[in-house]
Amino acid sequence: MRIKNICCIGAGYVGGPTMAVIALKCPDIRVTVVDSNPDKIKAWNGPLEGLPVFEPGLGEVIKEVRNRNLFFSNNIDESIDLAEMIFMAVNTPTKAKGEGAGMAADLCYIEACARDIAKYSKSDKIVIEKSTLPVRTAEKIKEILDKNSNNIHFEILSNPEFLAEGTAIQDLFKSDRVLIGGDETESGQKAVKALVDIYANWIPKEKILTTNVWSSELSKLASNAMLAQRISSINSLSALCEKTGADIDELSKAIGMDHRIGPHFLKASVGYGGSCFQKDILNLVYLCKYYELDEVAEYWHQVVKINDYQKDRFAQKIIDHFGGDLTGKKIAILGWAFKANTNDSRESAAIYVSEKLYNAGASIEIYDPMVPQNKIKKDINSFWNIGTLNHSLDFSKISINQKLNFLNSCDALAILTEWEKFKLIQLEKIKVFDGRNIGINSFYQIGKQ
Ligand code: NAD
Ligand code: UGA
Repeated sequence: MRIKNICCIGAGYVGGPTMAVIALKCPDIRVTVVDSNPDKIKAWNGPLEGLPVFEPGLGEVIKEVRNRNLFFSNNIDESIDLAEMIFMAVNTPTKAKGEGAGMAADLCYIEACARDIAKYSKSDKIVIEKSTLPVRTAEKIKEILDKNSNNIHFEILSNPEFLAEGTAIQDLFKSDRVLIGGDETESGQKAVKALVDIYANWIPKEKILTTNVWSSELSKLASNAMLAQRISSINSLSALCEKTGADIDELSKAIGMDHRIGPHFLKASVGYGGSCFQKDILNLVYLCKYYELDEVAEYWHQVVKINDYQKDRFAQKIIDHFGGDLTGKKIAILGWAFKANTNDSRESAAIYVSEKLYNAGASIEIYDPMVPQNKIKKDINSFWNIGTLNHSLDFSKISINQKLNFLNSCDALAILTEWEKFKLIQLEKIKVFDGRNIGINSFYQIGKQ
């Protein structure tokens, strides 16, 4: 079966870049990305500097394929009907209320997608889970599709995405692996082949791994859990380094030189952020509890607990340095994005650290090169109130800066995102708390070394 039309539901950090790369590598396929948020579609169709997702290299790809064979559209119904293959790349955040709140993945967006696909499809479709989903979600999707349609065959595949923000385009060009899970029936295997043929346009065949649907769904959660576990492991050791005089960077290097361990994801930090690690591990914990695997659930939950501990520990270090009270102190927060080379601030450690410093009495000066000022303000309004704050926010004590020209008026500076430009900062008499490495060497006073 040759695919001529693809529809992707969800024009976010995954839907936008992945479909741009498919369109680039498969010029004969017409790819349409739809979203329930018309502003997002407008931005994808607007100037390259204002794309909703900032990713190195994305602008160049969009420039080449947009309106050639990649289209961003509000016509969800038409785009679904026209496509033989539909990717679901909608968000799957942690549930905020109801059963499993604070742990389980909220599947309301994926369920809405499935209902739309059933409603607008007039011919058979291959439906692909691109979003990260709990194991056995395909069963639920199939049920919704079959219940809401007539005489249409839907074949469901799992094809989780492994790109990391900030390197999305290069990850998509040269994926370590592409994972495709499908049913072992004849129609299931035909659908798997149709998707393999698409990726085979640029991914070597030996890197395209096919499995059953459940293995594919669970491999995605497990991969993120293993990555986050490495970060929590090294971060937990950074605390011990600080007590003993060992250097966490030297430790990482020594550990990572063992080829069985490897050097990646061993960088101590102020804690991982991003929209996925925490939510995916909490989801894994929930699944383990659901299947009454309490010990397994507790094992993985500890990865999230250490991450919270690390963020808290970093903020507390700054507070302790000033004797437990930050009243009258001005702290610069450098970096709001959860990592460098993205404009994404979801679950960024900066949100939590700055909230704790503010609550200890500090004035906060924030700067990030890519996260828009209104987004930073929105994060503060949405997330600081959830924490320990029980009074209204005093915005005269919070400045969101467009330029890096305020540092000399600050008492301390916390570097929370690894942006290149922060590495060049030269300051006199400012205490620098470097969240990129909170081991023993992180406390240094520039000008006094
Ligand atoms: P996102 O929030 O950036 O984008 C999701 C988009 O889906 C939004 O624009 C939203 O408006 C749209 N949407 C939601 N419901 C819809 C509906 N019913 N119809 C049409 N549009 C709808 O999310 P994201 O970061 O792209 O993540 C999407 C999924 O991919 C998640 O499951 C995530 O865990 C997974 N994932 C994300 C990354 C990443 O780096 N961000 C990497 C791998 C996997
Ligand atoms: C992560 C995974 O790396 C992707 O494979 C996965 O597809 C994605 O989650 C997802 O499912 O959303 P992402 O969160 O975009 O990607 O970025 P990472 O590079 O993994 O960084 C996550 C966080 O960990 C960042 O805050 C980063 O600063 C931190 N980190 C990373 C460390 O603290 N130490 C490290 O050694 C590496």
